[in-house]
Amino acid sequence: MLTQSTQFKNLQIFNHPLIHHKLSLARNHITPPEQFRRHLNEIAGLMVYEVSRNFSTATYTVQTPLEPALGKRLSQPVTLVPILRAGLGMTDGILRLFPEARVGHIGIQRDEHTKLPVHYYSHFPQDISAGPVIIVDPMLATGGSAVHAADHLQKLGCTNIQMICLVSAPEGVQKMLASHPRINIYTAALDRELDQNAFIRPGLGDAGDRVFGTPA
Ligand code: PRP
Repeated sequence: MLTQSTQFKNLQIFNHPLIHHKLSLARNHITPPEQFRRHLNEIAGLMVYEVSRNFSTATYTVQTPLEPALGKRLSQPVTLVPILRAGLGMTDGILRLFPEARVGHIGIQRDEHTKLPVHYYSHFPQDISAGPVIIVDPMLATGGSAVHAADHLQKLGCTNIQMICLVSAPEGVQKMLASHPRINIYTAALDRELDQNAFIRPGLGDAGDRVFGTPA
């Protein structure tokens, strides 16, 4: 289901037909917000199944109707950190599969002119560093927002951080690799490049606007 990128050692690319089917529908410019949101959430749910593969578990005894059995439960609290706004478009899909996860929010907007991240909000569980953290954002373009989010989480003591994004640009993956080489990025597609406006090409447009129906 996952392929290690030959280009970037921090990048895992999904090669699952279902994910690519849904991603192509999301890319289509005529897909309306309600369907775009649905595709994003469904893809995010499929992605988290793989991303959580190495989460640690503890064993305990569960009483079946017939006898005691050995059970397993996640042994650390998991926190999703969607980058507002667009990351919210993937969060419900993950929570559907993983209702025990907590959600911390970080609001970062890319300045239209400088392309630099502007941090405007954050709210996290107090013990966020007690377990794995998954940064959630449909797009990794210049990488400015993701690097800023990871910097912030590291300052809070988080050591187990991963990122889920739908489409990523080589420039953004490279920036994350240079700044946070231990963070794995899980993406549905490594797109071709950034254009002169720092938009991912071919990309899927502005994910935040498409999720919330607020075209620029
Ligand atoms: C988009 C996107 C990422 C960021 C990627 O958000 O959802 O958060 O840009 O760009 P970068 O890698 O160059 O930082 P945007 O700033 O448009 O905010 P929004 O989600 O509120 O629309």
